[in-house]
Amino acid sequence: MKGIILAGGLGTRLRPLTLVTNKHLLPVYDKPMIYYPIQCLLNAGIRDILIVTGGEHAGDFLKLLKNGKHLGIRHLEYAYQEGEGGIADALKLAEEFADGGKICVVLGDNIIEGNIKRAAGAFFTQASGAKLLLKEVPDPERFGVARFEGEPPGGRIVEIIEKPKKPPSHYAVTGIYFYDQDVFGMCKQLKPSGRGELEITDVNNAYLQRGDLTYEILEGWWTDAGQFESLHRACTYVAEGGANHAESVVGKS
Ligand code: G1P
Repeated sequence: MKGIILAGGLGTRLRPLTLVTNKHLLPVYDKPMIYYPIQCLLNAGIRDILIVTGGEHAGDFLKLLKNGKHLGIRHLEYAYQEGEGGIADALKLAEEFADGGKICVVLGDNIIEGNIKRAAGAFFTQASGAKLLLKEVPDPERFGVARFEGEPPGGRIVEIIEKPKKPPSHYAVTGIYFYDQDVFGMCKQLKPSGRGELEITDVNNAYLQRGDLTYEILEGWWTDAGQFESLHRACTYVAEGGANHAESVVGKS
């Protein structure tokens, strides 16, 4: 399985920091943000990685990550996203890289404590479709949120709602997704949402409608780092407890 890290966007919620660099190059405690999703994939045994980025600071990723060998990446590719079309728009650029196989997509500002190896293994044996990782959060209105029939972990997801004003549960859809090759066709069918973006939540709902979506509850802490409060929380979590601490190979170099 190959890994795709989405690291584009303007990072407007972190201005003025993001006026001079890409959000995913900002520090989270002692490492650039992008190191954490890389580590997340490496810990799951995924060593072929595509980074999708964009904007005027895209070249800085090459300076930092080079060919990725020093970080333990076997094969590193980059793709450049024109404009700000959203997560599902960025994902379209990964079709050739995926080459018909299954993929694990990680949003570049998502940081986890634990290891997704078991979930990756489970998806590997899943015949088709998609798998989501969910996490119970106190502020679900900031995320894509699952509505269930029955209680998780046994309950069935019936709908995913992007940033609901009245969340139907406290289970957020984290920015770690497993997809089969059909995801690219689905991305091409999407229409822009109210915020003018192609939403990954629409892709997940399309899999749901096909009856081809599974989920697991993520163990350990999870946070995004896309706004000042969550960036601060990410720094604190990492400083106090480490991230991806199992088999951490990405050092400070
Ligand atoms: C995105 C997704 C949302 C998901 C979140 C996880 O939100 O749209 O469904 O819960 O990432 O970090 P965004 O960061 O674009 O607001």
